[in-house]
Amino acid sequence: MTQLQQPIKFAYWVPNVSGGLVVSNIEQRTDWSYDYNVRLAQAAEKNGFEYALTQIRFTAGYGAENQHESVSFSHALLAKTEKLKVIAAILPGPWKPALAAKQLATIDYLTEGRIAINVVSGWFRGEFDAIGEEWPEHDQRYVRSEEFIRTLKGIWTTDNYSFDGKYYQFQNYTLKPKPLQKPHIEVFQGGSSRAARDMASRVSDWYFTNGNTVEEIQKQVEDIRTKAKANNHHVKIGVNAFIIARDTEEEAKAVLREIIDKANTEAVNAFGDATREAGAASPEQQGNWAKSSFEDLVQYNDGFKTNLIGTPQQIAERIVALKNVGVDLILSGFLHFIEEVEYFGEKVLPLVRQLELQQEKEIEIQAKSA
Ligand SMILES: Cc1cc2nc3c(=O)[nH]c(=O)nc-3n(C[C@H](O)[C@H](O)[C@H](O)COP(=O)(O)O)c2cc1C
Repeated sequence: MTQLQQPIKFAYWVPNVSGGLVVSNIEQRTDWSYDYNVRLAQAAEKNGFEYALTQIRFTAGYGAENQHESVSFSHALLAKTEKLKVIAAILPGPWKPALAAKQLATIDYLTEGRIAINVVSGWFRGEFDAIGEEWPEHDQRYVRSEEFIRTLKGIWTTDNYSFDGKYYQFQNYTLKPKPLQKPHIEVFQGGSSRAARDMASRVSDWYFTNGNTVEEIQKQVEDIRTKAKANNHHVKIGVNAFIIARDTEEEAKAVLREIIDKANTEAVNAFGDATREAGAASPEQQGNWAKSSFEDLVQYNDGFKTNLIGTPQQIAERIVALKNVGVDLILSGFLHFIEEVEYFGEKVLPLVRQLELQQEKEIEIQAKSA
């Protein structure tokens, strides 16, 4: 089956940090509590979402005052769901690969193979300083993350594992039991800089990127897939989008306007400063947020730029356009999570599947007549 024939997948951001997914004082019915998140996870798996992504913050950033830890929160959501895979954010530095490999292997057993991880390389220096963690410069953080991913995969798949890296060393180490998932637990990564793309093209199973236009996403996909091919590696692509689906386009656009008009200006500006500091050492200036405006930063992973804002039909067409440039998964955020995940499942997803089917038939007809 070609990639175009695979149904596009959907993930959602777990609101395990307070304040929802937008840095705005607009009313939000999203809540960071466990109870809310369990109901959301159950609604999401009923409504066609295959994955949920938790976030990791050690200190408050962009006004998100409270943050539950990602791995334990992911495990707790897995315990209350049946099919959903939960991707736990992991930050090399605070996490060491030996502990992560062991902890995740156990969770894999406890949840019948439904845990995944998102290795993130960090953007908030203040957070690292506050917890006494070293803050290597931008590209060095990716050297460390790549070693982190290589060692996890090594430990998960090999007995008597040895590794002699700059950041991590292993000698003749055998983890037992190994994870249930084969060949290993899925590894996602987040970031868009050259270092991030190069890492994805060598070691990650999935590349997560900030929201962007179809044209810009296409450039990233082509860059990564070309490099990955040269490395004999396959990597799948996930793109962030803040989805505002409403019965009319006017309603959807009005919601976006209100989110931006009510932005928490101080928190958005502080976030903008932190991201500039984080990306300063990314030599080519192509990292996440390199070109983000104030309005873009109100959704902290540029989710408005993907423009999944409009009617179900408009959104479905734009999702299929992303799929057609090589995107495998949409990572979605919503204003009022539970009710909007349900609206998405009822109104948008069937249209996406219909468009995919139509496209598949057209490809078959073309193939027959060729
Ligand atoms: C989908 C996605 C999820 C992320 N989740 C987190 C997170 O939970 N915690 C965190 O500190 N950073 C997170 N990041 C930010 C990354 O750590 C990284 O700093 C950022 O993407 C900038 O990387 P770049 O300079 O390579 O573009 C995430 C990034 C993306 C794209």
